[in-house]
Amino acid sequence: MANGQRELWGSRAGFILAATGSAVGLGNIWKFPFMAGMSGGAAFVLVYLVCVALIGFPVMLLEFALGRRTRKDPVGAYRAVDRTGLFWVAGAIGVIAGFVILSFYSVVAGWCLGYVFKALNGTFASFTDSGAAAEHFGAFAANPTPAIGFHAVFMLLCIVIVSSGVKCGIERAAKFLMPALLVILLVLVFRGLTLPGAGEGVAFLFSADLAKIDGWTTLKALGHAFFTLSLGMGAMITYGSYLPERTNLLSAALLIAFLDTLVALLAGLAIFTAVFAFGLAPDGGPGLIFNVLPVVFSQMPGGVFFGFLFFVLLSIAALTSGISLLEVVTAYFVDERGWARRRAALGFGVIIFLVGLPCALSVGGPLTTEIFGRSFFDAADYLSFTVLLPLGGLLITLFTLTVWGVGDFIAELKKGSDVSLSIPGMRLLLVVVAVLVLITFWAGFAGKL
Ligand code: PHE
Repeated sequence: MANGQRELWGSRAGFILAATGSAVGLGNIWKFPFMAGMSGGAAFVLVYLVCVALIGFPVMLLEFALGRRTRKDPVGAYRAVDRTGLFWVAGAIGVIAGFVILSFYSVVAGWCLGYVFKALNGTFASFTDSGAAAEHFGAFAANPTPAIGFHAVFMLLCIVIVSSGVKCGIERAAKFLMPALLVILLVLVFRGLTLPGAGEGVAFLFSADLAKIDGWTTLKALGHAFFTLSLGMGAMITYGSYLPERTNLLSAALLIAFLDTLVALLAGLAIFTAVFAFGLAPDGGPGLIFNVLPVVFSQMPGGVFFGFLFFVLLSIAALTSGISLLEVVTAYFVDERGWARRRAALGFGVIIFLVGLPCALSVGGPLTTEIFGRSFFDAADYLSFTVLLPLGGLLITLFTLTVWGVGDFIAELKKGSDVSLSIPGMRLLLVVVAVLVLITFWAGFAGKL
């Protein structure tokens, strides 16, 4: 599609909902609570909040600005303002990260879809302790038929929405799904907070054990800040490329980062109040929501209903993020290769489904091949979290500092707002961002060696 006819978001609210939908996902409801649970509760939360404010927010502004300035997919966006001819690689890393992330994301999303049905048909009622629930989940994830089946259903939903276009597909889905997500979340937080003994869960989330924070945990918090805000892989460049000039990027990014953090904290509250109220362990790892929460639902009054709501919540959150991941890949083939949107979404949706198969089969399942000592699933997760996304964030920051120009970045930010931003001040901020990412990389990997 030629630039002049590029599809745009229908409204500011529609864009905010779609971008928040991309940001709010399994990262907030599945990953954030279990990472906090394993890494010192509030201490992790604190580092994560600092990363969101100091690094995530500026990088989100960079991505929106570069996207809107160039009106292109990530590879095209870099190319459009790059005189060195090198930085298209940063865009390409983003498109590849989209592939890698969606291939394991869709597997977890498939489990969530499967658990919607399990919640409804009363499977949880027989779980009297987390051992029984964990065994059930282990068998479910290891069984190829549901693992592949639900992974396929999830990818199909993403394909249908992305094929329908930016306004009629992505924006329309977000306008309906995001308010539903918020209402469900508030119901669950209310349920959690009104359980006897909920205070312990609140204390866990908000009281810090600073001793647990080391270089590696900090790198995980940084990786998570990027992941949860959908940064470092071009999703926000792509969403920014559909923005009209009048949109105020500063206030939009602020609102999206705020809503994303709010949802993570609310999800943490809903989960930990319930986990502590029933005397269960908060450090259950990636299986926390599948191994521990079903036990909570089996014992809680109205558990079938709340369990159902919880897994619907997760599925919705996953879907609005999954579509943004597929959109990055689709936009690349539409903008750079001139493919029709439907063909790109379908073709690459199917390929991502296939790439996801090893992940789907490697969580206790038949595929035991390891890459660098990790299962396919863990390797995809590890690679994107600790390497690809922080690297993507670092590259766009360095690109702006050295090639695109801080002045041009500020000019783009000023289009929809009348704030006064100083070039030296912004340059300093971006240098700080780059240095912090580099130090975190170094501290994280040094701690691991
Ligand atoms: N932000 C999403 C989440 O928190 C994941 C995601 C990462 C989506 C990168 C798009 C791009 O679950």
